[in-house]
Amino acid sequence: MAEFQSKIKTIEWIDTYSRMVDQTKFPYAFEYVEITNGQDMFNAIKTMIVRGAPAIGIAGAHGVVLYAQEGAKTISDKAEFISWLLKKADYMASARPTAVNLMWAVEKQKEIIKNSTSDIVGIIEELKINGKKLELEDIEINKKIGDYGAEVVPKGATILTHCNAGALATVGYGTALGVVRSAFANDPTVQVFADETRPRQQGARITTLELTMDGIPVTLITDGMCSYFMKKGMIDMVCVGADRIAANGDAANKIGTYTVAIAAKYHNIPFYVAAPLSTIDTSIKSGDEIVIEERSHDEVTHINGKSICADGVKVINPGFDVTPHELIAGIITEKGILRPDYTKSIAEAFKM
Ligand code: MRU
Repeated sequence: MAEFQSKIKTIEWIDTYSRMVDQTKFPYAFEYVEITNGQDMFNAIKTMIVRGAPAIGIAGAHGVVLYAQEGAKTISDKAEFISWLLKKADYMASARPTAVNLMWAVEKQKEIIKNSTSDIVGIIEELKINGKKLELEDIEINKKIGDYGAEVVPKGATILTHCNAGALATVGYGTALGVVRSAFANDPTVQVFADETRPRQQGARITTLELTMDGIPVTLITDGMCSYFMKKGMIDMVCVGADRIAANGDAANKIGTYTVAIAAKYHNIPFYVAAPLSTIDTSIKSGDEIVIEERSHDEVTHINGKSICADGVKVINPGFDVTPHELIAGIITEKGILRPDYTKSIAEAFKM
């Protein structure tokens, strides 16, 4: 399978700090920001300087290292250090509620903290090594997802995607856009239709930017246009990412994804979810148990700082919705493409 390397490294641990692309600046600037303490990392996740489920997982893992470095400056007793750091880790995991990758990666760091037999300096070193390992594994996992996914992309396909599940939502290759990258490497006639993705416009601001940077053809459409193009026969498949997938295959992703899935079903277009196993939360039976982040009303009432509606209008702004498993043709993971019955195929994937 040919490989198409993304030029982007979204988040990276460097010696004593975390360096990430500042995604709040898109599309006007492509800038890196250095995060040097735990509270700044919490804020970076919350304010979406870093965003996308796998990327915020890695950010959370880096955040625990940053807190460990800070704690070591004032705490010398190991037991006290561990108890303080575990509380900070839980705080880090609470920065955003829906993407389970954040809790998953922080939990991986907590296991190191709880099980280490080293002194404080040694624990920090182990946390750094583990953070780096998770970072590098993320790219490898995404490439596997990409290669499995490419097998179901028809020749010359137009793939519709929603939000950004690309290099900029991960460490550097992408899940849904990883599938696009792997497919494009073998078939340069593949192209993408990107939903704008209101309210924060990750499709317009981020997906079009990263695909353009990598020379992959992309057409921007607004969210309401997807069924129009499906009816015209211009969409061959849908591929999106996920923030949390329940044990039965119900998948939470950016608000609006559910609408796309319903439209795809109606038009007989396969709807795929691409996600690593770390996005699957087997502790919950169905999507009903997924906590949906409620975000600032300004995201709906304003565009680029300017109001687009009547002053004081009532607003609701859930950040995610849940696509029921029966609308999903397959879940593309690093262990292969999982098919219905998802309760069975997901359980089996975790045993592999
Ligand atoms: O609010 P965001 O931008 O963090 O939401 C991102 C998404 O919904 C992505 O599709 C999802 O995290 C998958 S990223 C590989």
